[in-house]
Amino acid sequence: MDQEHAARLIELAYASVGVEPRSTVDQNLIDCNVLVSECPVDNHWGWDVLSEIFHYGTRSIPLAALPGNERAWAEFYLEHCHHVLASPKPSENIEQYASGGIELPSFGDNTQFEHVLERRQTVRSFLDKPVPLEVVSHLLQFSLGFMPSREVNAPDDLSMTLCRRRCSPSGGGLNATEGYLYVNNVMGLAPGIYYYDSSRHALHLCTDCLPSLGTVLAGQHFANNLPVGLFLTSRFDKYWWKYPHSRAYRMALIEVGHIAQTFQFIATDQGLGTWLTGAMDEDAIEPLLKLGNSAEQLLFFVGAGFSDGSHTPKSLRDLMSARTSHEVMS
Ligand SMILES: Cc1cc2nc3c(=O)[nH]c(=O)nc-3n(C[C@H](O)[C@H](O)[C@H](O)COP(=O)(O)O)c2cc1C
Repeated sequence: MDQEHAARLIELAYASVGVEPRSTVDQNLIDCNVLVSECPVDNHWGWDVLSEIFHYGTRSIPLAALPGNERAWAEFYLEHCHHVLASPKPSENIEQYASGGIELPSFGDNTQFEHVLERRQTVRSFLDKPVPLEVVSHLLQFSLGFMPSREVNAPDDLSMTLCRRRCSPSGGGLNATEGYLYVNNVMGLAPGIYYYDSSRHALHLCTDCLPSLGTVLAGQHFANNLPVGLFLTSRFDKYWWKYPHSRAYRMALIEVGHIAQTFQFIATDQGLGTWLTGAMDEDAIEPLLKLGNSAEQLLFFVGAGFSDGSHTPKSLRDLMSARTSHEVMS
């Protein structure tokens, strides 16, 4: 927030003056939901204000011009990269360790697991080929499902999910992360968004109305034909209960990151390419997930599908080669 907007906010808060909708500054504050006409009904936040400001300040960030199609996204992204690369680059830690050190032995990818580690990559070009339900079932079971073999003994009054364990670690063993399966092209499963019940390894339909991924994921239209994905949310109230300081907000994010990573390894092992993003319009997506309370919020998206293995979307490749040939010609 710049000085002008901050000063106006202080004036509105302390000087008993009214909002002037014709003022650009006031209108900006209204557009960003800093000024609202009504207090949100359910705005409980169980941590202190540090994480609240960060969390709400980084949700559903309005883009000045949301790319409306893949070509527009490619132009927008290329422009952004040119802009970034034109500014001074940050230094690398390794610059201060240019020589010396204890040299370690290196290994090839000998085990099946190491092979998966090496093959995992972010791809941005998916085939219109349906993913079998068994593959999706695998993905869910090992990324979010609870493992019967890891169930821990606990007092009778402890909630069921607190005694359960996943293939990924969980902050405080709270299993605060939940997953909502985005189904676009899965053999044997109707398109829609489904809640994944980690306890019963079952799906519950939330909506059969699929959003265009590009529109709700910051204009990244190359993902529009992504066959399957997972919207990952966190039940903040579980963290509020055990860890009341804002520091635990970091743990919620990191827990989701672990699950996203596990999802990618399983997908890779199943022969799929993976893609992930945290650039989302939470306000547009959350109603589709039919979240039960405001303490559960969307944090991340990870997707998978058969792919040609390209990490650069076709639209961007076309644009770059058109520009290169234009440069050669001129
Ligand atoms: C937290 C996080 C957010 C990311 N967000 C995006 C994104 O919005 N769009 C995208 O295309 N890739 C996204 N990526 C993927 C990275 O661009 C990718 O991991 C990186 O370029 C390294 O490539 P690799 O995953 O193939 O090793 C994200 C990755 C991480 C870890």
